[in-house]
Amino acid sequence: MSNIPKKNMEGSFSEVPGKYCVRDIAMADEGRKLIEWAESRMPVLMELRKMYSKTKPFKGYKIAGCLHVTKETAVLIRTFIEAGAELSWSGCNPLSTNDAVAAALADEGVSIYAWYDNGPDFYWCIERTIDIEPQLTLDDGCDLIDTVHEKHQDMAKNYVIGGTEETTTGVHRLRARAAAGELYYPVYAVNDAETKWDFDNVYGTGQSTLDGILRATSVLFAGKNFVVAGHGHCGSGVAKRAQGMGSNTIVTEVKATAALKATLNGHEVMTMEEAAKVGDIFVTATGVKDIIRKEHFEAMRDGAIICNTGHYDAEINITELEEVSKSKRTIRPNCEEYTLKNGNRVYLLAQGRLINLAAAEGHPSEVMDMSFANQFMSHLRLVEAKKADKAIPIEVMDLPVEQDEFIAETKLKMMNMAIDKLTAEQIAYINDYNAGT
Ligand SMILES: NC(=O)c1ccc[n+]([C@@H]2O[C@H](COP(=O)([O-])OP(=O)(O)OC[C@H]3O[C@@H](n4cnc5c(N)ncnc54)[C@H](O)[C@@H]3O)[C@@H](O)[C@H]2O)c1
Repeated sequence: MSNIPKKNMEGSFSEVPGKYCVRDIAMADEGRKLIEWAESRMPVLMELRKMYSKTKPFKGYKIAGCLHVTKETAVLIRTFIEAGAELSWSGCNPLSTNDAVAAALADEGVSIYAWYDNGPDFYWCIERTIDIEPQLTLDDGCDLIDTVHEKHQDMAKNYVIGGTEETTTGVHRLRARAAAGELYYPVYAVNDAETKWDFDNVYGTGQSTLDGILRATSVLFAGKNFVVAGHGHCGSGVAKRAQGMGSNTIVTEVKATAALKATLNGHEVMTMEEAAKVGDIFVTATGVKDIIRKEHFEAMRDGAIICNTGHYDAEINITELEEVSKSKRTIRPNCEEYTLKNGNRVYLLAQGRLINLAAAEGHPSEVMDMSFANQFMSHLRLVEAKKADKAIPIEVMDLPVEQDEFIAETKLKMMNMAIDKLTAEQIAYINDYNAGT
């Protein structure tokens, strides 16, 4: 494997060229326990594992994955392997890999290139997963799909069957690519499935963002002015949880309907210009760049805490934060203290990268159960279409409602909950255009 390009980072790694590169394989045992813990809380995915471990529908198929290496992702990876797939994996954010989990996966034979803080080798890791020549790609944030499209065009046009995209920002990027006529294989927008977007982004981000802030700061939320930029799926979840912890919640928005929902949910709505003056804690959750900029840092109170939970680290303009600061130091893990030229201190968490994955463990297993059931089933859909020689349009595709229903029903069943069924009379009533007062 001498033709594999050298990575940029030096230091101590556990590495088998062509197979894996992780921080320290000796952490495997710790990682295995974390994965077992997640498995005990992901019943839908475990059910799918049971359903497909005998028939092995993915036999002969290779999947390259680019998604946060967490204990929950490991459960998804094991499920694909049980169902016959060959996988190669990288993280989708420089600060989101759990090194123990990566070690456990490498130790059980998964081809994986991932370690916490892999910034200089982020794309080297992605490239290594493409070395296996995947027929399927599984992405979170579109960096893998972009790399395949930009650097391996022949593979994208003639070899890859299809892919999936996990997050809102990735789906936006894909739709822009499709609109420009530059999408070369079909991709399912897993993010947009109801059992993903309305649960993972809302309840997952809501809880884990607060978890990340707590681990990085240990501050009291009650009584604080807690500013959330964006009141979409993630932002509404974060604001709701902060409100539940006793914060005075403030929302900034650019969309009138989202702002209106925020105010009726009991949050104060104002512009970032105003919020900057009164906020104690700031969280960006928009998927848009430059939400907090120079003029906002300069207006902030002494001691303000700033972080981001959107996919990319572009929401907080760190270059401008550096410009208005005279010094900085790390005051605790994932917490940089910037002393501004005006004498005030602001605290930037996790270098502006998604706080819940960089400073905590990402979403709880229970919500990732549904997101990853969607991932698994979407890839199954792509493979089944290929086997049946069914043409799939090259576009960003929504998932059928039946998939959401199957996942929600299975989840409820696993939670020992039953729901009512519509009676024949009720169905007739719904469909009766003459029924009235
Ligand atoms: N941290 C995580 O684990 C995690 C999980 C899921 C999604 N995400 C990411 O979080 C981001 C948000 O995702 P979402 O599903 O909530 O999207 P969404 O489209 O549901 O919500 C985004 C909201 O931000 C608002 N917005 C846009 N520009 C703004 C601005 N300049 N100021 C204030 N508000 C603005 C929009 O009007 C919208 O209401 C994306 O980048 C997504 O990929 C992160």
